[in-house]
Amino acid sequence: MKKTLIAYFTRTGITKKLAEDTAKQTGADLFAIEPVKEYSSSYLICVGQAKLENLQNARPAIKAKPQNLQDYDTIVVMFPIWWFTCPNIILTFLEENDLSGKTVIPVCTYGSSGKGSSEKAMTAVCK
Ligand SMILES: Cc1cc2nc3c(=O)[nH]c(=O)nc-3n(C[C@H](O)[C@H](O)[C@H](O)COP(=O)(O)O)c2cc1C
Repeated sequence: MKKTLIAYFTRTGITKKLAEDTAKQTGADLFAIEPVKEYSSSYLICVGQAKLENLQNARPAIKAKPQNLQDYDTIVVMFPIWWFTCPNIILTFLEENDLSGKTVIPVCTYGSSGKGSSEKAMTAVCK
């Protein structure tokens, strides 16, 4: 039977908590999308880092890839909204893993703005 993987990126832990609670309730597996170069713990500095990545259409490197992707038919991608869209590291994740034929479900946490253009940005890079 095919399974569900929840791949999440978090900076301050809110999305991690959501991912862990969802995994516990659904039995899905978890994968943490971890940047090679950590983002600043200072909100203001991180806002600058995120804006720069956004402007440069950067693809920040991820430490590792999920194992046994072929076992999953559904990938839930959880992330915080950064600058009204998904963090660029989510685009790295979608591009460097072969998710063809799988159902990709985006789930975001945010302060107040809602999902912004994250769905559009993710759809554009999904093969
Ligand atoms: C760089 C940066 C940009 C953000 N931009 C937005 C935004 O555009 N809209 C919004 O509602 N929240 C924004 N937030 C708030 C986060 O989306 C929110 O706090 C999120 O739940 C944090 O999740 P985490 O703890 O998993 O990192 C931003 C936070 C950061 C650090």
